[in-house]
Amino acid sequence: MQIVRSSEELARARSQIDGKLALVPTMGALHAGHMALVDEAKRRAEQIAATIFVNPAQFAPGEDFARYPRREAEDARMLEQGGCDLLWMPSAADIYPEGFSTSVHVAGVSDRWEGEARPGHFDGVATVVAKLLISVRPDVALFGEKDFQQLAVIRRMVADLNIPTEIAALPTVREEDGLALSSRNAYLTEDERGRAAALPRALEYARAAILDGTPVRLALDTGRKSLVQAGFSRIDYFALVESATLEPLEAPAGDMRLIAAAVIGPTRLIDNLPLQKILVQPR
Ligand code: PAJ
Repeated sequence: MQIVRSSEELARARSQIDGKLALVPTMGALHAGHMALVDEAKRRAEQIAATIFVNPAQFAPGEDFARYPRREAEDARMLEQGGCDLLWMPSAADIYPEGFSTSVHVAGVSDRWEGEARPGHFDGVATVVAKLLISVRPDVALFGEKDFQQLAVIRRMVADLNIPTEIAALPTVREEDGLALSSRNAYLTEDERGRAAALPRALEYARAAILDGTPVRLALDTGRKSLVQAGFSRIDYFALVESATLEPLEAPAGDMRLIAAAVIGPTRLIDNLPLQKILVQPR
């Protein structure tokens, strides 16, 4: 696996790649969720590139940018063993050189939920992902459904800007008790870790209840209450949304997703679940 850092090195390495190229963009502190993206990349392309960049532009002041886990050497080993061919680990100065003035804002799908709780977050994500896709020029780029709104924002941006990369998504990889793998799980104490599985359980409950015909508002309220009972101190949102636009739904319709963000101890966790596309009969 070749490791490059500056944009110039990346451009040289890219020009030597022939054949179908897949990209897995990450912020590092890799886990089995990231590695599932690498595995899928191998199925879809001949050459695999990954990026590790803890993107300052997608963290608001006061968020966890400074303490976000950084494990370069271990990450590089995992990617090499996973079959990655090229790893780009730019510095902030490579991505945002002196005079950098451009920001990509994806209106609508960025506005609610994560966008509301973390102002500026999706502009930071869209800007860096645009830059990564333009720099690496992959045929396909892989993203996790774990960050469901991020995926919708990226799909919208790539379509709107005619970026010639296919966006592929993978289901969330979870621990045995259902907790979604996340680099931020490293922040949880043992006690918080035990309670954290209430988040996927609350989503599972709401999914079953809604599919069973329980009114959406009631199912969501019960889900929220179970989070409070489990010791979550704040719920930023717990909602049923339309999958492509992230618009809230008051009744089941079309392609739906349950999405949630809640805080346990000092740690903010997000998760989501699909709902089958079936006609739900009211009781
Ligand atoms: P990061 O949080 O490192 O995630 C990198 C990719 O891994 C994202 O597409 C994310 O959805 C996926 N991922 C994370 N946890 C997962 C899990 N449990 N199962 C499946 N996939 C999972 O998301 C980012 O970085 C950044 O915002 C980035 C897109 C790299 C832009 O900076």
